[in-house]
Amino acid sequence: MDQNRSPVLEALAEYHERGYANFAPPGHKQGLGADDAVRRVLGAEVFRSDVLATGALDDRKSGQKVLEQAQELMADAVGAEQAFFSTCGSSLSVKSAMMAVAAPGESMLIGRDAHKSVIAGLALTGIRPVWVRPRWDRELHLAHPPGPEAYEEAFRQNPDAVGALVTSPSPYGTCSDLKAIAAVCHRRGKPLVVDEAWGAHLPFHDELPTWAMDADADVCVVSIHKMGAGFEQGSVFHLQGDLVDPVRLKESADLLSTTSPNVLLYAAMDGWRRQMVLHGEELLGSALELARSTRAEIDGLPGLRVVEDELLEKEASHDLDRLQIMIDTLEAGISGYQAADWLRAERAINVGLSDHRRILAQLTFADDKTQTDRLVSALADLTRTSLPAPASVVLPDPRELELEQVVLPRKAFFAAQDVVPITESVGRIAAEQVTPYPPGIPAILPGERITAGVVDYLRSGVEAGMVIPDAADPAVQTLRVLHD
Ligand SMILES: Cc1ncc(COP(=O)(O)O)c(C=O)c1O
Repeated sequence: MDQNRSPVLEALAEYHERGYANFAPPGHKQGLGADDAVRRVLGAEVFRSDVLATGALDDRKSGQKVLEQAQELMADAVGAEQAFFSTCGSSLSVKSAMMAVAAPGESMLIGRDAHKSVIAGLALTGIRPVWVRPRWDRELHLAHPPGPEAYEEAFRQNPDAVGALVTSPSPYGTCSDLKAIAAVCHRRGKPLVVDEAWGAHLPFHDELPTWAMDADADVCVVSIHKMGAGFEQGSVFHLQGDLVDPVRLKESADLLSTTSPNVLLYAAMDGWRRQMVLHGEELLGSALELARSTRAEIDGLPGLRVVEDELLEKEASHDLDRLQIMIDTLEAGISGYQAADWLRAERAINVGLSDHRRILAQLTFADDKTQTDRLVSALADLTRTSLPAPASVVLPDPRELELEQVVLPRKAFFAAQDVVPITESVGRIAAEQVTPYPPGIPAILPGERITAGVVDYLRSGVEAGMVIPDAADPAVQTLRVLHD
C-alpha cells in the first residue's frame, strides 16, 4: 500500500478547499460561532477541522471510504490484518475486545494488573474474571506482569475459559512474554487479547519490546495518544487470525462508541501512522539514544536511582520499554508523590506517574535534549532541596493485597450497597472500585472481600499523597460495600 498517503488529512484538505457551508453539526460551524476568548486559547484551526466524519469529511454514504482507507493503511503499517480507529480511548477498545471474545457468564483469564477499564468491561458484560496474579517484587515493592506459566496453570484449572487478556506494557513500561502466553492460549484454540495501551510505538523500532501482533496475539489495543502523537482519546484496536470475529468486534465497539467521532483524532492518528512508517525508525532510534543518556545522567544524581536491570531479572518482567524511565527516590528520603509535586510546583515539570517511592519520566520521539536537560537539571535541584520526611505507606504482605473475588464484579456493582467507615469495611464485600491513579490498577474491585491489609495500604497511601479519583469517597474515609 502507498504509505505516503494519509486519507483523512487529504480529505480534510479537500474539504477546506471546497469551502463548504454546513447546515449540520458541529454547531460552532467551523469556528464561526466560537467565542474569541475560546479561539484565542485553542486556535482557529482546531475549530476549522472539527467537522462531521460522515456528511462532511466524507459524503453521507461514506462513499470515499476515507476512514476505511486510513484503517487499512494502519493495519498494513503494523502487520495486522485489520485495524479499527476509536475516538473513545483504549478504555473503549479494551471493552470491545472483551465483548468480542466472551459472553456474559463465560470466563476469561485476566491479569490482575489490568487497567480499570477492564473492570468496567466486567461490570458491563458479566464476564467472569479468572484472575492471574502478577509476580510481586519484594525488593522493589512492584508487581511484575504474570508469566506464561501462570496463564498455563489458570487454563489448567479453568479449562472452560474462553480466552485471556494481558496488559503489556504495564504503565511502568514492563512487559509480559507475549509470545509464550499466545502459545499457551493457541494450544487450546483460545484467543489472546493484549491491552497494549502503552505500546503504540512498538511496531516501529526493533529495539523496543515485541509488539503484540508480532507475538501472535489475536487482538491488541493501543492508545495512540500515550506513546504516539495522537490527540488524547485516539485509540486503535488491531486484529489478526480467525479466533476473533471481526464483525463481532466491530459491533461491540459500535455498541459502546460515540456516534460523533472527532475527526481531529482520526486525522492525527492517520498522520502519525504515515510519520512512523516514513521516519519512525530514525525518530524512535534517536529517542532511545536520548533515553539511554538521560537514564545515565539521572542515575548519577545523589539519592536517585534509575531502575532498569532489576526489572528484567529472572521472575521479573520479560522486557522493558526503555523510553519509560523509572526513578527510585527512596535513597533521597522522599516519596515519588513529593518529587512529582515539587517538580510541578517549582520547575513546571510534569511526570507521568508517581507512587510511594518512584516517579516515571516518559519520553517519546517528541522529546529532545533541551527537554531532558531541563528534567535532569530539575532533578539535580530536587536532590539539593530539603523536603519533610514523607508519610510512610503501609505495604502489607502481598497476599493481603490479593483479595478474594467473592461475587462477580457485575453483580456487586448493581447490588444494594451500604456506605461504611473504611475501618469497618474489613471482611465486607466491596461494591465499588478503588483505584490509585495513575497507574490506574484497582486495589479493590467490586465483589472482592476487603482485607485489613488493603485498608491500611489505602489509608496510609492517601495520607502520603496517593490519589484515588474513582472511589465514591476519594479520601477513602468510607467505602461502598454490599448490603448485609
Ligand atoms: C494499561 C491501560 N489500559 C487502558 C488504558 C485506557 O486508555 P485510554 O486512556 O486511552 O482510554 C490505560 C490508560 O491509562 C492503561 O494504562
